Amino acid sequence: MGASANEVKAFLERHYGEKKETLKQEAYQDLERTLTVEKIDVTLPGRTIPLGRLHPTTQIVRQICDIFVALGFQVVEGPEVEWDYYNFEALNIPADHPARDMFSTFWIDTESSERPMLLRTHTSPMQIRVMERTRPPVRVVVPGKVYRYEATDATHESMFYQLEGLAVDENITLADLKGTLFEFAKRLFGEERKVRFRCDYFPFVEPGVEVAIDCFACGGAGCRLCSGTGWLEILGAGMVHPDVLRRVNYDPDVYTGFAFGLGLERILMLRYGIDDVRLFYSNDTRFLRQF
Ligand code: DAH
Repeated sequence: MGASANEVKAFLERHYGEKKETLKQEAYQDLERTLTVEKIDVTLPGRTIPLGRLHPTTQIVRQICDIFVALGFQVVEGPEVEWDYYNFEALNIPADHPARDMFSTFWIDTESSERPMLLRTHTSPMQIRVMERTRPPVRVVVPGKVYRYEATDATHESMFYQLEGLAVDENITLADLKGTLFEFAKRLFGEERKVRFRCDYFPFVEPGVEVAIDCFACGGAGCRLCSGTGWLEILGAGMVHPDVLRRVNYDPDVYTGFAFGLGLERILMLRYGIDDVRLFYSNDTRFLRQF
C-alpha cells in the first residue's frame, strides 16, 4: 500500500512540477513579448495637448476692468433684456426723441405695450440701475453685450460689447473725467499717448465729449489705421445730465458725475489692425487662435 502511495505521489509531483515550469516559461515569454512590442522610448517628446484660450473679447474685458479696478472702480453687470425705461426713457430719450435713431432696436413682444421691452442697445441703462440702488459715491464699470438691429458689415455687428463707466460724488468735474480717461488711455495704449476731447452730443450727458487718442500706429502723422487724421476715436463720455440724476433722486445741486462708454471690438480692431468686426463671432478658430 505504502509503495503505491509513493508512486502516486511521485507521479503527481512530477506532473505538477512540469506544468509549473511551462506556465512560468509562458509567463516569461509573454513578458518578453510585451516588452518588445510595447517598449516606450522615453526620449521621445510628449504629444502636445491642444490648449483652449480666452476669446479676445474676454481678454480685453478683463484687461480694461483691471485698469479701472486699480483706479477705484467696481465691476458690475446687468441684464441684456431691458426695459425701454432704463435703455431710453431714464436716459433722457423719450419715445419721440430723435436720438432713438442712433439706436436701431430689437424690440421684444410683450403682453402689454405700456411697458416696452428690448435688447439693450448700450450699457448705459446700468447707470440708472446702479444709481437707483445705491447712494453716492458711485464708481462702477459695466462690461457687457449690447444689440443693434442693423445689417452687418465690416464695421457693424448686431451683437457687440461695450463697457460703461460711471462716477458720481460731490465735486466731480470735467477735469476728473479727463484725468481718468487720460490715465486709462495711457495704461491701455502706452504711456506716451495723447488724448483729445471734442464736443459731442449724447442726451444723457451735458456736456458730452468724444474722446480720441493720437494714432499709435503712426504717432499722429496720419496712416491707414487713422484714415490719415492722426487720431483714433475710442469712446463717448460726458458729465451726467442733471435730469438723469434727478430721476434717481440724486440732488444735482449736491452731486455731479461723469460717464463714458466704449465699444470693445473697436478697441481690439485698432490694437490688432483687424478690419472686419464679424471675425470676432464667426467662430473661425484660425482667427481666434491668434490671440
Ligand atoms: N451709450 C453710448 C452709445 O452706445 C455711448 C456713451 C456716450 C456712453 C456717452 C456714455 C456717455 O456713458 O457718457 O453710443
